[in-house]
Amino acid sequence: MEHQKSIIVLDFGGQYAHLIARRVRQCGVYSEIRDAETSAKDLKNAAGIILSGGPQSVYGDGSPQGDPEIFNLGIPVFGICYGLQWMVHTLGGEVTAGKVKEYGRAKLRLSNGKSKVTAGLPDEMTVWMSHGDEVTGLPDGFERIGTSDDCGNAFIAHTENSVYGVQFHPEVVHTEHGQDLIANFVGLCDADPWDIGSYVESIGDAIRKEVGDRKIFMMVSGGVDSTVAFVLLNKVLGTDRVQGLLVDTGMMRKDEVVLIGRAFEELGINNLRIEDASQHFLKKLIEVYEPEDKRWIIGDAFLSVQKRISAEMGLTMEDGWMLGQGTIYPDTIETGETKNADKIKTHHNRIPEIQQMMEEGLVIEPLRDLYKDEVRALGEELGLPHDLVWRHPFPGPGLGVRILCAQSPSKVDDSIDTRIAHAALPVQSVGVQGDGRSYRHAIALFNSDKYPNDECWNLATSIPNQSSTFNRVLMCTSHNSAPEFVFSPGYITMERADLLREADALVHRIMYDEGFYADIWQFPVVLLPFGTSEGGQSIVLRPVESQEAMTANAAVISQNALKRMTQELLSLNGIDMVFQDLTHKPPGTIEWE
Ligand code: XMP
Repeated sequence: MEHQKSIIVLDFGGQYAHLIARRVRQCGVYSEIRDAETSAKDLKNAAGIILSGGPQSVYGDGSPQGDPEIFNLGIPVFGICYGLQWMVHTLGGEVTAGKVKEYGRAKLRLSNGKSKVTAGLPDEMTVWMSHGDEVTGLPDGFERIGTSDDCGNAFIAHTENSVYGVQFHPEVVHTEHGQDLIANFVGLCDADPWDIGSYVESIGDAIRKEVGDRKIFMMVSGGVDSTVAFVLLNKVLGTDRVQGLLVDTGMMRKDEVVLIGRAFEELGINNLRIEDASQHFLKKLIEVYEPEDKRWIIGDAFLSVQKRISAEMGLTMEDGWMLGQGTIYPDTIETGETKNADKIKTHHNRIPEIQQMMEEGLVIEPLRDLYKDEVRALGEELGLPHDLVWRHPFPGPGLGVRILCAQSPSKVDDSIDTRIAHAALPVQSVGVQGDGRSYRHAIALFNSDKYPNDECWNLATSIPNQSSTFNRVLMCTSHNSAPEFVFSPGYITMERADLLREADALVHRIMYDEGFYADIWQFPVVLLPFGTSEGGQSIVLRPVESQEAMTANAAVISQNALKRMTQELLSLNGIDMVFQDLTHKPPGTIEWE
């Protein structure tokens, strides 16, 4: 979509470009991310430009460079961290390796009244710093308007040209008044107002233009993004030009299919075909134990069901159909669509077959400009129920990645240096270490409260950092000392999926009941193939707090909620033990495989 008069974030390789763009949008102005190298010519319609941070030094080999001409466009510019340093370097100032590397919180002192960009901010505020190099000489026309103990030029301004730079990160929550500062900058830009309501008005025309007289076939997973995209396409094109397919894989949540079906029905959308393919999926998963094999088989089974049904229903390109996808903005950038963004993972909406179709103009992604919270707001705007659009994210392969499969117990020496009772679990799980993934054991801690104290939380950080055996630390919430573990080989079966569905549903019910659902980013409930009796299994509770799932903190939940969940889980037939996963990401991942 064409958004006139928006604010462009040039991506110099920081992990924060998305955060900056979201902060700008929260000020009611559209913002998007472009490559650092984008030419000034292509930026001349922007209302403002923000230069993001980045991990490099401006003097480093291959460090990202912008187009110096952007400073001659007469548009306000705001440089952050590396963005500030590149700006200073380019405009003839001086950047040197800092004597002191400054990471974390710092006190910023402002020379108040100096600039409109600091209007309303206090004289002193806590800011978040993360840098080695620093600005030691200002370019012509600039003045210093803020300092910290270790950084003389923490905030500089060329007021006449509306060009500003900060060494700290106003976009992160640890910076006090960071949002006010960004709002002040946005206020200096001549930007058009934007919100989700205005987006709905303009997106209709854009969709109709892109689709022409074709029709859309869309896979609906049950997740928020594809649900909202499907409703939007229906509203814009009418139900007779859209066809949805929801494949029940046998690994959906309890009542999920019914819930989605009912929500669509209430909106008058009757073109979603629900295909129960659970037996097809489960048959292919017999005696499959490796996590990557499971993912691959599930993905493949999806594709084959999709192909069979689209052929059956005559929904092919030759018949004038194109494919709709619920891809959202972070999915497009994570896959590396700007040059300096790290390629984190190839999103399933960007596999080669789909890329090829995109090049041929056969794919429409009506949410590709939106962040998750905006997709949710749009869903509500379109009339979807609040609870449905605010559901936690759920992985594509569903409960499949939460049913741990193993053929034999995996034993390991669990001697570690702590006086807290502990035991290694006879299974392994995935984690992240540096840039790679680890596949290691989990260790469980036991105490009389069956509730993690400070020492347990400390061990959750220190053990994975120091040990090459363990990547996860759990608290046992059902036992106060380690019992004898009884392992039962297991792959994905309907029986195990049904048991996990019940467990997952009761955990979610209690989370709602105790009123903390909205504070949690995601709460995987994982089934492990061992217990204390023959055929018995265990449950891991994995509540995490996060912004966009790149990093996550294991969430603290109340003793009362944990106790309720544990007791109810133990009353399920076949569940012997319950644990809470205390590991942050990194070194753990959110999911167990
Ligand atoms: P991890 O486990 O890598 O998860 O910390 C990060 C986010 O990605 C989700 N996830 C998946 N989503 N297919 C998906 O569609 C997958 O195979 C998959 N694996 C992880 C996970 O739920 C979390 O939100």
